Amino acid sequence: MNLDINLINHFANITSKAAIACHKHIGKKDKIIADKSATDSMRSSLNKLDIDGKIVIGEGELDEAPMLYIGEKVGTGKGMSLDIAVDPLEGTNFVANNMPGGLSVISIAERGNLFQAPETYMDKIAYSKDVPSDAVDLDFSIEKNVKNLSDVKKKSLNNLTVCMLDRPRHIEIINELKRLKVNLKLITDGDVSGALLVTNEKYNVDLFLGIGGGPEGVLAACALDAFNCKFQGRFIFKSKKDIARANEMGILDLKKKYILNEIVKGDSIFCATGITKGDLVNGVIQNGEKYVTETLVTHKHSSLNKIIVKEDVIKP
Ligand code: FBP
Repeated sequence: MNLDINLINHFANITSKAAIACHKHIGKKDKIIADKSATDSMRSSLNKLDIDGKIVIGEGELDEAPMLYIGEKVGTGKGMSLDIAVDPLEGTNFVANNMPGGLSVISIAERGNLFQAPETYMDKIAYSKDVPSDAVDLDFSIEKNVKNLSDVKKKSLNNLTVCMLDRPRHIEIINELKRLKVNLKLITDGDVSGALLVTNEKYNVDLFLGIGGGPEGVLAACALDAFNCKFQGRFIFKSKKDIARANEMGILDLKKKYILNEIVKGDSIFCATGITKGDLVNGVIQNGEKYVTETLVTHKHSSLNKIIVKEDVIKP
């Protein structure tokens, strides 16, 4: 079943309000308070909606997150049954340190259609719609992936750009790409946004890859689906607790590589509002009591992707 198009506005309002709630914590060096303000706002807005919502990707497990934990029911319980993935504040460092790229993000799909996984890392790869699915693969070597990309995109290796989180765990990939003379775009945080840079040539990113958060992988997959881009991910379950939880959630093959439509099935909606200005959207702009936000919204069924600008008046 397709999602009601009116839901787009409701969910864009939710991320927009969460971004505004977080705005006052920009540059205050407090990631926890910033995250809490966005989470409180998002939870309170979700609970006013006439939906039967279930958080499948959230702030963590019940024992570590009192709000928007995995499995929490949200909404009035009256409307459509939805799976909901949230990251009320994606890029806590960005907001705490007043750096570009902080987002408030939500994705929804019909119940049973969004992948539910414990909060763990994921090895990911994302690329644009014009690249055939079999040209790039999480299990190919870096060299094979970029050489295939170079062939299908008719661009020399030194004109290709690969984006990934700047982490010590990626040092071998980084060295290999340097050896191949491929350009790097290393991001300090925020790999939902990083993955979405393959959606449009204007960002000049040909491939996104590397290990980042699993929840961020599921969120990015929803938007990439609406852009008809490609994504593969493999969760990394290391601790006994993660493995036990994954088994409990029905994940038995712990090394399985998931393609996009095993992570998100059917119709989906994705909304990401900028808190601080970033590559995808502007941050919250405050002028007295007036707040202006920009939200990237996508809707799989209608192939919609657009930026919604909202104005809100908030009395102190
Ligand atoms: P937070 O919003 O929780 O701070 O996450 C930011 C982020 O950069 C994600 O975008 C990314 O998936 C993850 O952290 C990477 O984790 P790590 O910093 O442990 O490499």
